[in-house]
Amino acid sequence: MLNPLAQELNNVLRGSIAQNLFSDLGTRIFFPNGIIAQSGEAKKLGTVANGTIGMAVIGGHPVTLDCVHKYADKLTDAELVAYAPTAGNAELRQMWKDKLIAKNPSLKNKSFSLPVLVPGLTAGISYLADLFLDSEKTLIAADPSWDNYSLIAETRRGAGFKQFNLFKDGKFDMESFEKCVKEEAKTGSVRVLLNFPQNPSGYSPTKNEAAQICAILKEVAEGGTNVLAISDDAYFGLNYEDDIYPESLFAKTADLHKNILAVKIDGPTKEDFVWGFRSGFLTFANPAMTEEQYTALITKLMGVIRSSVSCASTPGQSMLLKAMKDPAIEAQKLAFRKVLKERYDIVKKFVTTHKCSTLNPLPFNSGYFMSFEVPSKKAYDLRVKLLHKAGIGTVAIDNKTLRVAFSSIETDKLLTVYETIYKVAEEL
Ligand SMILES: Cc1ncc(COP(=O)(O)O)c(C=O)c1O
Repeated sequence: MLNPLAQELNNVLRGSIAQNLFSDLGTRIFFPNGIIAQSGEAKKLGTVANGTIGMAVIGGHPVTLDCVHKYADKLTDAELVAYAPTAGNAELRQMWKDKLIAKNPSLKNKSFSLPVLVPGLTAGISYLADLFLDSEKTLIAADPSWDNYSLIAETRRGAGFKQFNLFKDGKFDMESFEKCVKEEAKTGSVRVLLNFPQNPSGYSPTKNEAAQICAILKEVAEGGTNVLAISDDAYFGLNYEDDIYPESLFAKTADLHKNILAVKIDGPTKEDFVWGFRSGFLTFANPAMTEEQYTALITKLMGVIRSSVSCASTPGQSMLLKAMKDPAIEAQKLAFRKVLKERYDIVKKFVTTHKCSTLNPLPFNSGYFMSFEVPSKKAYDLRVKLLHKAGIGTVAIDNKTLRVAFSSIETDKLLTVYETIYKVAEEL
């Protein structure tokens, strides 16, 4: 069934030459009224605070690491304008691989591929969908989850999209996850995408929950089901509580079972505060795959890259490579993370010490965001009221979830913003 937004566009285009020539994707595709559209509105109307953006903002500007900025005008001609290799700068790929082990010590001695550079994590997810999804297959993700997953899986690839309930009684809903995965296993294969720290909730599993998630995947794999386990680690490293499993789930799924192909999608977008660089990495792991097979799989991925964007942009890769070699980078990243942790602490304290009869904060312990459950299912109305009446930009992920990006709200405004959100929500 066509999405109503696609239908609307098709109605406008009815009888036009464009519509007469559309492919099935051309007919199906639409631009969601989701995060990007709502963020665009908030840019104009969010005069008090814009809590829509998945960026870290200080003093009205996106933060930039000095060890990235300082190389902006110091690139050679080749570093600036030459074509990059299809799978990305070779030195940068190797360096990213080495850093993966440093950031996820349990990956040491495990077999995993060389990361492939893709033009942003979104492209990486879309390429994975090209390789592993079609109209006969289904992707499992959380409810709520990032709106682009369904656009990529359902609309773009024509695949199924199933969601498990992310939370129950203030905790990760393991029962729902298990049921969803085991139900899907009956079809003979499972494709599951897990994103931690999660967008939109800002949740990461505890050590115990991470172990349980993996036990469920392993059980299904042991039963003979082939599993594609994708970890979207866009917000990796932004953990604010001690009980969180500190590594990527990929570090566990990498060698969990021969029937599990683990894929890590990550990148410098949020980790290194370079949102517009459009660089991301895809890394594969499976205990039974040989180096030759990793190379063949990567070559397939290169075919997908070649046939879409050909290669990613060069200057971002050049600057990132220099920044990653700069000894100052870790301290500079830590300083920005400290600001985000400070904002997290303020928000956490506010929602634990204040009650709102119309909003329930979903569990959060990491990342850029937190979300409220809106039991009245009036999240869209609340977003519009906050924007038009109070000049506060938020995102309605769906009718029951309102997302607030505390990463992009100035620290000294947070209390007022949250007081206003509660007040406007009470009046709804
Ligand atoms: C969960 C998640 N994955 C992927 C991305 C996309 O990252 P990129 O900007 O590198 O395409 C985002 C960005 O908002 C995200 O929230």
